[in-house]
Amino acid sequence: MKKIRVGIIGCGGISHCHMGGYKKLVEEGRTELVACCDIDEEKLDKYAAQYNFPRKYTSAEEMMKNEQLDCVSVCVWNSAHKDCTITALRGGANVLCEKPMALNAAEAQEMYDVAKECGKLLQLGFVRRFGEDADAVKALVDEGKFGDIYYAKATYLRQNGCPGGWFGDKKFSGGGPLIDLGVHVIDLTRYLAGCPKPVSAFGVTYDNLGMHRAESEIGWKVEEGDHPYNVEDLCSALVRFDNGMTLSIEASFNLNIEGDCGDVQIFGTKAGTSLNSMKVLTTKDGKFVTFTPEGEHSFRFWPAFVSEIEGFVDAAEGKIPCKAPAEDGVWLMKIIDAIYESARTGVSVEIK
Ligand SMILES: NC(=O)c1ccc[n+]([C@@H]2O[C@H](COP(=O)([O-])OP(=O)(O)OC[C@H]3O[C@@H](n4cnc5c(N)ncnc54)[C@H](O)[C@@H]3O)[C@@H](O)[C@H]2O)c1
Repeated sequence: MKKIRVGIIGCGGISHCHMGGYKKLVEEGRTELVACCDIDEEKLDKYAAQYNFPRKYTSAEEMMKNEQLDCVSVCVWNSAHKDCTITALRGGANVLCEKPMALNAAEAQEMYDVAKECGKLLQLGFVRRFGEDADAVKALVDEGKFGDIYYAKATYLRQNGCPGGWFGDKKFSGGGPLIDLGVHVIDLTRYLAGCPKPVSAFGVTYDNLGMHRAESEIGWKVEEGDHPYNVEDLCSALVRFDNGMTLSIEASFNLNIEGDCGDVQIFGTKAGTSLNSMKVLTTKDGKFVTFTPEGEHSFRFWPAFVSEIEGFVDAAEGKIPCKAPAEDGVWLMKIIDAIYESARTGVSVEIK
């Protein structure tokens, strides 16, 4: 059996999580690590040595020109997602691009169009779709246990969690907690609800707290770096969908809240649940009852990435449908664009 030839573009933090999945597939004899690429030569050297990549590049174009790659993970900062993804697709590879898909919907649409034109798979790094908690709730949704889902909440709040660096520099990140953290829970909610189409959004953003909060035992230790800090601290939004569902969103890097918290809650005509509690509230014989779905319910970070990478390679080989297709990345970027535009203008923004 021909081994899937793997390449990585961007050898930073999250790419190590991708490698957890690829290493497992290497052990199973399914994949071969061929080349990695980063513009930071020092990082690249370390990474190539750590994972035994036979070849390394400081240019994605060079890598794609020289290597026949089947599957490429794009793990660069957000502003480079579009160019690196298009380079990899045009170079003949299937691509798993990290979230958010791009800086905005126009870039995302271009990536989607190129993938179609090249006849290649473009999967999005919506890793929350690969969690056991998501699987458990999705199975119940598909069985019709919730009825029609008409309201949902997606929350990702940090008390003191600005990652700093390029994440705080809009030119590189596209925005703050909405585009960085919000995308995970917004996408997961939409996925669980059957991927309805968004039709409008109303949002507000605040930048009251900045990067440096207070001395704190919890939170991120952010050093003053080369990047300016110019993104929002907090975003709150309401999105309407074509099936009548409304989604309430909250995402923060910094907020005067007792501690970090996050959840995805869905409410249907027959039942409701929270992914945190995994208790499903419903009614039976005129009484309220709760039950917990069978199986593993937690979101386990590393296993979810292994599952994401396996899913990507399986989908690239045509064995299974892609669980996080590019189309959903484009819709997500349309939601993000509309929320930021609404926050800027103060009025609700239509999504097409
Ligand atoms: N799925 C998740 O849970 C999750 C978690 C963290 C980050 N992410 C996403 O992963 C991406 C990377 O985040 P990170 O935390 O690993 O950042 P990072 O800064 O640690 O790594 C990014 C790397 O990309 C490299 N790079 C930038 N432009 C490049 C280019 N044109 N060619 C080659 N290399 C280039 C940088 O030198 C850097 O080493 C971001 O899009 C982020 O939103 C996802």
